[in-house]
Amino acid sequence: MNVEFYIDTADLAQIREAMSWGVLDGVTTNPSIVAREKRGFEELIRDIGRATTGKVWCEAVGANADAMVEEARAFRQWADRVVVKLPMGAEGVKAASRLAKEGIETNMTLVYSVGQAVLAAKAGVQYVSPYLGRVDDVAWSGAELIGGIARTFSRLSLPTKVIAASVRGPQQVLDMLNIGVHAVTTSYPVWAAMMKHPMTDIGLEGFMRDWKEAGL
Ligand code: E4P
Repeated sequence: MNVEFYIDTADLAQIREAMSWGVLDGVTTNPSIVAREKRGFEELIRDIGRATTGKVWCEAVGANADAMVEEARAFRQWADRVVVKLPMGAEGVKAASRLAKEGIETNMTLVYSVGQAVLAAKAGVQYVSPYLGRVDDVAWSGAELIGGIARTFSRLSLPTKVIAASVRGPQQVLDMLNIGVHAVTTSYPVWAAMMKHPMTDIGLEGFMRDWKEAGL
């Protein structure tokens, strides 16, 4: 299965539990997710790197391309399989172009238009992150945006992958897969909700009750 699934958190307990399921490809973070843990950035990313064999996504917070490139080089010391997140804009695109030449895997985040996504892809990023939920929050269609990006990338045969971000529920995960994204990142509660169904619980209770009543 080519599609990639990521857990969108820096909570180590959630990461360890979710990675034990064997269906996730790594961990995505952003400055707000990191800030929530109230720990040093480097120490936290190093711990996350030890908690997963998958990719660890961390976002550069520098104000310009030079700073972002320096951060990206440092991130690579913190975890084995780092994807450097860069904020969409001229400085992020500049940093992406330079990091592509250094073979450092990058993602352009906070993408809100097909134009932004195409420029990021041209800069050589491996992923672009359009924000489904936040687009829906402003009464626009996140699905239309992400569908447009996926169609344009496919028409241009671009190698850049679309990772749906800001995903708020299991149905949105499925909607994104049907649109044709290459990856989805969402929170622990969403992945956990996707794993469960009340009819499964009812069915298993019935199996176990019959099994015990039969004295097996
Ligand atoms: C990826 O890591 C994004 O930053 C994240 O999915 C944003 O989600 P939010 O819109 O719920 O903050």
